[in-house]
Amino acid sequence: MSAQKFSRVASAAEIEEGCMKCVPVGESEAVLARVGGTIHAFEAICTHQLAYLEEGELVGHEVFCPLHNGSFDIRTGAPVKRPAARALKIYAVKVEGDDVLLAEPVPSAD
Ligand code: FES
Repeated sequence: MSAQKFSRVASAAEIEEGCMKCVPVGESEAVLARVGGTIHAFEAICTHQLAYLEEGELVGHEVFCPLHNGSFDIRTGAPVKRPAARALKIYAVKVEGDDVLLAEPVPSAD
């Protein structure tokens, strides 16, 4: 089993409480969101169709898709409200000083 490789994607100061920010990571993009002081990271595009979740709404730990209003739990990626049915990939997050680092998500079993 190989160690996860983390790379810097943003400054922690840029991610305000209750807000989302899309950042490039590797060949794809992730959304950073800070809730209760903790930064979470999840894949940027809805698993239902093509919509950028950063353009949706964050309510507590739930992100609502701007296209059909499906939602996901940003801690686990689990779909909460239909038509979202497939989980989002979740990135491992590390904060070192003011640097936010992400590791590529581990492929899910589904
Ligand atoms: S594209 Fe996100 S719920 Fe349909």
